[in-house]
Amino acid sequence: MDVLHCFAPGRVELLGNHTDYNGGYVLSAAIQQGVRVSGFRRDDGVIRLSTLFGGENHRREVSFEEVFVKSGDWSDYPLGVLEVLRNNRHSLGAFDAVYDSDLPSGAGLSSSAALEVSTILLLSKLFGFSLSGMDLAKLCSYAENQFVGVQCGILDQVSSLFGKRDHALFLDCLREKVRLVSFPHDMSLLIVQCGVPHALVDGVYNARRLQCSEAARQLGVDFLRDADMTQLEKSRLPDLERRRAAHIIGENDRVLRGVEFLESGNMADFGRLMTTSHESSRVNFENSTPELDLLVSIATSTKGVLGARLTGGGFGGAIVVLVSREDRHQAGNLIASEYERRSGHQSHVMECDLADGALIENGFVS
Ligand code: GLA
Repeated sequence: MDVLHCFAPGRVELLGNHTDYNGGYVLSAAIQQGVRVSGFRRDDGVIRLSTLFGGENHRREVSFEEVFVKSGDWSDYPLGVLEVLRNNRHSLGAFDAVYDSDLPSGAGLSSSAALEVSTILLLSKLFGFSLSGMDLAKLCSYAENQFVGVQCGILDQVSSLFGKRDHALFLDCLREKVRLVSFPHDMSLLIVQCGVPHALVDGVYNARRLQCSEAARQLGVDFLRDADMTQLEKSRLPDLERRRAAHIIGENDRVLRGVEFLESGNMADFGRLMTTSHESSRVNFENSTPELDLLVSIATSTKGVLGARLTGGGFGGAIVVLVSREDRHQAGNLIASEYERRSGHQSHVMECDLADGALIENGFVS
């Protein structure tokens, strides 16, 4: 039996919140943690998916011929990828796949994209098709849009596929272009989970997307990427759409300035952009929570920290903290203990390095 191993990392969003589906800009990075899958082809028409982390629902078995039905758990992501590939007439077959992950789910670090990306890499190698990284990323995001039902953009999947050690990714979502920007070695990131399980967020996420497209429509542009603050100020947008648009326009601008700050090594101003981004999430986009706000306020008054913001979709999950490498350990401990003292919740802190993207880990082994 020939077994293949693939790995796809999670990602952290540094700047550019909810800009991806607005045709905008994002700065992100792959992280070391991710999903590892081992799989092989089967000749009995059975697709067997299992995890080492899935609790009760750790196994799902379907026939290759059947119409896949969503079950609301981790298995929807690999099956969604399979469904999209089938619809695109890729020649596939039955297979066995076992997943393991050291990515916390629901933390805003894209464990779902890591499941999708590891699956599509596995299938591409098992069934011998080859696509560009951007096409792989888009197919994975369609799986989420069409099968899982979350109208996400391409940020998570692109970051997981294109990540590079010690680099941030500057992504232009409209042009589908990625540029690597090197990240200073004396700086580091902390990812701090707020420890409060968040309610089902798919509905609110999709609602934000609709509000953004409504704002774009009223501003007379295809995407909010094409609008600017002057245009927004002159418009007669209702308060809610105005705030949503202000967040996206502000975020796009912060990404462009952030790239310049990164390139010139101006990390103090980069950190300030992160904290401003969080404030805009809190006030304009309303995708923060009191726990994330508390974490950001504690983090930004901790020694060595240059900025902090929520990362990913929001509505719970985690914040990302920019901290000097020499202070990161102590800063993580201080943030965690102060947060516990003031909120009663236990946070989880990950020290995080910018890492390489997804890969097929070996050739075939027996
Ligand atoms: C989630 C989505 C992404 C992106 C972020 C917010 O991670 O999956 O496509 O929209 O939220 O920036």
